Amino acid sequence: MWTILILVSIAAVSAEPKVFYGEKVFRVFPQDNKDVEVIKSLADNAKLDFWSPDSVDLVQPGKFADFRAESQVAYDIQALLEQSEIPFEILINDLQDTLEKQRDSTTRAVHSYEKYNNLDTINAWSANIAAQYPSLVSRSQLGTSYEGRPIYLLKVGSSGTNKKAVFIDCGFHAREWVSPAFCQWFVKEAVSSYGVDGQFTSLLNNLDFYVLPVLNVDGYVYTWTSNRMWRKTRSANSGSTCIGTDPNRNFNAGWCTVGASSRACDDTYCGSTPESERETKALANFIRANLSSIKAYLTIHSYSQMLLFPYSYTYSLAKDHTELNNVAKGAVDALTSLYRTRYTYGAGGTTIYLAAGGSDDWAYDAGVKFSFTFELRDTGRYGFALPETQIKPTCEETLLAVKYIANYVQNNA
Ligand code: ARG
Ligand code: ZN
Repeated sequence: MWTILILVSIAAVSAEPKVFYGEKVFRVFPQDNKDVEVIKSLADNAKLDFWSPDSVDLVQPGKFADFRAESQVAYDIQALLEQSEIPFEILINDLQDTLEKQRDSTTRAVHSYEKYNNLDTINAWSANIAAQYPSLVSRSQLGTSYEGRPIYLLKVGSSGTNKKAVFIDCGFHAREWVSPAFCQWFVKEAVSSYGVDGQFTSLLNNLDFYVLPVLNVDGYVYTWTSNRMWRKTRSANSGSTCIGTDPNRNFNAGWCTVGASSRACDDTYCGSTPESERETKALANFIRANLSSIKAYLTIHSYSQMLLFPYSYTYSLAKDHTELNNVAKGAVDALTSLYRTRYTYGAGGTTIYLAAGGSDDWAYDAGVKFSFTFELRDTGRYGFALPETQIKPTCEETLLAVKYIANYVQNNA
């Protein structure tokens, strides 16, 4: 009797992380609107977790969709897809198994650029690197999260006045773990290339890079402690027991008009108002305060292997569409040159889907012309469960694209 009570109370205080035994990730290929309707009814009945696109509402005929399904419903889904003659593949047969292979088994806790680091490790790393390279790196606090965690920002560049700046953020969506890994990699490459590599040295002499390793700190911690598949922030929603807002639907850019949900339980919930989240508010405030220097805004997500630029809240072409398209092409060519990783690029609305409230569109309309969203590796083989062995090649190739954009900004902004 007492043991049961004690066990229950322990479970309530520190729940074990969610497990994903037998869960599958499907890729379906809806051919027409009828197929899309079948998938929508499936999503309603089986509480599917959409990986790509981010919500069932964004599924379109002629484009594939990836979703995670719990083991109990996986066989029924398979039967229904077969019966409806909707082509499909199973990308991941047992998500728990894939997740266990995602991280290697050797000792964690210490920071590594080729491993996924938890928030404490990332915060200790950022403090260290700023202390180690005081003339090149400084750390400040951008703001505080809903749960009260500091959100740190690194400024990377040689000292100088009136420098143009490139802003790079990572970790908007909690489960996209390769994103924070890239921000760490970028800073490492910057400090180790300064005075060694001519191109990077000149970039660091002429530009400041603001690097935000993890924006959605609460969500990121939650993916480590409780649910690896969490996407949103962790704020409470009034009138609902569901938690969190999609930070990339929470900006004031066609806010909540399209490709976003007004239901608090959905993964693409736009929030109660634009910038309702402390995290997005802090980011927007910083960019507003530094609009005169910030010439480029790069936001790093995964997965899909895409380089996107405005607009995503409308099909209308951005004023700078042609130039942004040329820069995207140059960046993608640079990226692909290393390992032949294929990327698509273009305006967000046509290249993936219409989705309003994104930080890229907001930054662009606020006056940051070179505004891009990266969707890093892969294209779905592992999705969010990208193995640690892919961190290095992913970051190396992405760095080439980021340097291409920075170089363009240095010469043209
Ligand atoms: N997968 C990203 C998201 O849905 C893509 C963002 C593209 N930009 C946008 N403003 N929707 O958040
Ligand atoms: Zn994302």
